[in-house]
Amino acid sequence: EQNERDSQFIVSNWAKDHYHRLLQNTEEGMSVGYGYLKERGLNLATIQTFELGYSLDQWEDLLKSATAAGYELKYLEKTGLVVKREDDQGHDTGRRYDRFRGRVMFPIHNISGRVVGFGARTLKRDDKMAKYLNSSESEIYHKSDVLYGLFQARQAIRQEELCYLVEGYLDVLSLYQGGIKNVVASSGTSLTEGQIRLIKRYSDNVTVLYDGDAAGIKASLRGTDLLLEGGLNVRVVLFPDGDDPDSYIRKVGDQRFAEYIEKQSQDFITFKTTLVARDAAGDPVKKAEAIRQVLTSIAKVPDAIKRQVFLQQTSAAFGIDEQVLITEYNKLVKPTA
Ligand code: CTP
Ligand code: MN
Ligand code: MN
Ligand code: MN
Ligand code: MN
Repeated sequence: EQNERDSQFIVSNWAKDHYHRLLQNTEEGMSVGYGYLKERGLNLATIQTFELGYSLDQWEDLLKSATAAGYELKYLEKTGLVVKREDDQGHDTGRRYDRFRGRVMFPIHNISGRVVGFGARTLKRDDKMAKYLNSSESEIYHKSDVLYGLFQARQAIRQEELCYLVEGYLDVLSLYQGGIKNVVASSGTSLTEGQIRLIKRYSDNVTVLYDGDAAGIKASLRGTDLLLEGGLNVRVVLFPDGDDPDSYIRKVGDQRFAEYIEKQSQDFITFKTTLVARDAAGDPVKKAEAIRQVLTSIAKVPDAIKRQVFLQQTSAAFGIDEQVLITEYNKLVKPTA
């Protein structure tokens, strides 16, 4: 129902303002929250553009402030800002507490700029604590259908005719601050079809900038296939192991970072070819398997002309006769033929 959703939007917007105020106008917010963001190299302009905030390290700050401001508990619960306290048997004790405590708050906007949920980073080094906590799913927040930063990036994506895709919140913020404004995050490693549909509204071209670790590479491979299936043109940039776009731009500076992604950006065939060739290392059985993997990706491309070009490219990359490759490709696509 429309009123239900509106009420959830309104309380989320209020919470965003509340966390933003706490970051800038309280002792704890300034020393702990703002101190942390400063340490990570973010400036005030970035904090304002993304409406970053801080949740006090208390159990009932938001609950009490929101209630005092007249917001209904019902909507605080529905948006997951406030959580039921249950006893050992899982029964509702009637008590409520704040979901987000002592965390830097990243409001997640939809494409019209309304806040639908939050990502929140702990500032504790304690390993038991999840580094990031997200809002729970609600009528207005579906994690798989949002892209962090899209609201701020959408015009630049149209202008540049390119969308940079990163994994994390800080990656978006650091790149945006460094002048790369056409950047969004999948917020985690697995890209979804809903997120791809969102990108497609703004551009057909995506460059994947995932973390330079094993998980990031794996996610790039899977993400690449999904993007191809969605009819998008995909390029990939690999970062040194242990770096992500945020740590790398902090390390080398805006200028060198821009040069790096320009130089290192590979089309998906080169990307896959390099990766699989590295693993295959001259082993003909592995090489054949690698080629089939690339062919499987190509089969996902909806446009027949693009498929043709990709097949030519693959034949050149692997040094395999094009006719042989096409025969293999056809077997793969129509296994019964
Ligand atoms: N993520 C998440 N929950 C986690 C870990 C990660 O939702 N427990 C999502 C967040 O959106 C995070 C992204 O996955 O930004 C990438 O994760 P990771 O690379 O581990 O974190 P960073 O963004 O690099 O975080 P930081 O630089 O703050 O350590
Ligand atoms: Mn502000
Ligand atoms: Mn990672
Ligand atoms: Mn990081
Ligand atoms: Mn990361």
